[in-house]
Amino acid sequence: MTTSIPRSDAKGDASLRLGAVALVTGASSGIGAETAKALAASGCRVICAGRTRAKLDDVAASIEGKGMAFELDVDDRGSVASLFERLPPDWRDIDVLVNNAGHDRGGRRRFDEGSIEEWEKIIETNVIGLIRVTRVVIPQMIARDRGHIVNIGSISGYKPYAGGTLYAGSKFAVHGFSESLRLDYRNTGIRVTEILPGMVRTGFASARWDDTSRAKKFYDDFGTCLAPEDVARSVVFAVQQPGHVVISQLVVVPSSQT
Ligand SMILES: NC(=O)c1ccc[n+]([C@@H]2O[C@H](COP(=O)([O-])OP(=O)(O)OC[C@H]3O[C@@H](n4cnc5c(N)ncnc54)[C@H](OP(=O)(O)O)[C@@H]3O)[C@@H](O)[C@H]2O)c1
Repeated sequence: MTTSIPRSDAKGDASLRLGAVALVTGASSGIGAETAKALAASGCRVICAGRTRAKLDDVAASIEGKGMAFELDVDDRGSVASLFERLPPDWRDIDVLVNNAGHDRGGRRRFDEGSIEEWEKIIETNVIGLIRVTRVVIPQMIARDRGHIVNIGSISGYKPYAGGTLYAGSKFAVHGFSESLRLDYRNTGIRVTEILPGMVRTGFASARWDDTSRAKKFYDDFGTCLAPEDVARSVVFAVQQPGHVVISQLVVVPSSQT
């Protein structure tokens, strides 16, 4: 049975309100942490969600009074399913969902050189986890006819590279999911944006290899990278648009990358 969705008159009611609640997954570091801070600076209260409690506490503390650390493992079905019952009532009207949690653990290798367990985990977090959180959050957005879902994709979602079968594959999936999701909710108060960053200097490469010096060399050799704050600014730009404007995709690359 298809649920009927109230239609928005798109008079600007989807634009960001002061005190709106945002949920950012993977908020413990990198792009997620900076996005949480930038959304708070633009007036949101932010649920800083992720797996590493101590880091989430630090991020939430840095956005004093507007942040809440929240344990959420997007790989864990139970953790995501219990999201609303674990949130305090005054944090449940989520206006902005930033699906940011992601990794490339074991990646940048030829396909046959990676284990199936590692490859499965990339899909589990980057694709299934993102879908899982969206599926849990969207019903209350539908009920209120307002909400903005921002998916952090990647330029790898349209430009594959050797050694990227699973990571690029996962981001192609995020791209297709985001495009279809936007169409599902067209003419409603729900907007969908995909941000597609190029190279960003974060903990991402270090998590990939579990090796900080290799990660440092990787970024140094690359040249100019984006900072996570650059991507965070793009998220804020997208969510601050008036209700009739949808930033559908935003490709953000450093000047060294075209
Ligand atoms: N860095 C880049 O060049 C780049 C470029 C394009 C797109 N992106 C995308 O940007 C997003 C953020 O990456 P980043 O560069 O900021 O890397 P990062 O610093 O390594 O941050 C990744 C975040 O995801 C979290 N995470 C991983 N698995 C999770 C899970 N199962 N449940 C909840 N949180 C989980 C990590 O937290 P814990 O591990 O502490 O739990 C961490 O907070 C990813 O989706 C990535 O694909 C990155």
